[in-house]
Amino acid sequence: MLVQDAIAQRRSIRRYKEQPVSEEDIRAVLHAATLAPSGKNRQPWRFVVVHGEARRAEMVAVMRQGIAKLEAQGVDPGSSKRSAGIMARAPVTVFVFNQDATYADLNRSYSDRLFDIVAIQSIGAAIQNMLLAATDRGLGTLWICDVFYAIEELCGWLGEDHVMVAAVALGHPDEAPGARPRKSSDEVTRWFS
Ligand SMILES: Cc1cc2nc3c(=O)[nH]c(=O)nc-3n(C[C@H](O)[C@H](O)[C@H](O)COP(=O)(O)O)c2cc1C
Repeated sequence: MLVQDAIAQRRSIRRYKEQPVSEEDIRAVLHAATLAPSGKNRQPWRFVVVHGEARRAEMVAVMRQGIAKLEAQGVDPGSSKRSAGIMARAPVTVFVFNQDATYADLNRSYSDRLFDIVAIQSIGAAIQNMLLAATDRGLGTLWICDVFYAIEELCGWLGEDHVMVAAVALGHPDEAPGARPRKSSDEVTRWFS
């Protein structure tokens, strides 16, 4: 598939078939992630692949616990319950972490915070590569930040101290949504000449 076709055809997929994703496909998607550019080539991305029925059920139970805790504190759970339901049906969820930052680093310097911004951009590029590589293989993906509603619980369950950036659901699509609306490039660009 041409890269421009993968960019144009990619969609956020929220319904998946039960059909498992092959290890070869998972590895190809992760490999594409590691080919992304990164500031100073630091490659700050780290991935944790959750697959298999038992782990998936645990993951969703943990996420729902975290969401329930926030709700009990009066926090609006946004779309997180819906995202947890999607993760319950996707055969694979890849959690993405920033290896260069831990939750313990609270009093960090200005330059560390700049590194964070660079790292997050690098990791965003890696995630987009994952989505495009999956599209190329006929797989569906969903980039999920609703995991933040249960971040402590999920990081605790995964045994991760590093900062979670997102999760990506991966599976064989069971829907074919049309393109979602976009602003044109003219609407979002100012030519400064
Ligand atoms: C950083 C980021 C976070 C997102 N988080 C979620 C999420 O938690 N749940 C969800 O259903 N979709 C999530 N999405 C998917 C967006 O809703 C989706 O990309 C957008 O509506 C455009 O649709 P498209 O991806 O099909 O073009 C996220 C996308 C991005 C880039």
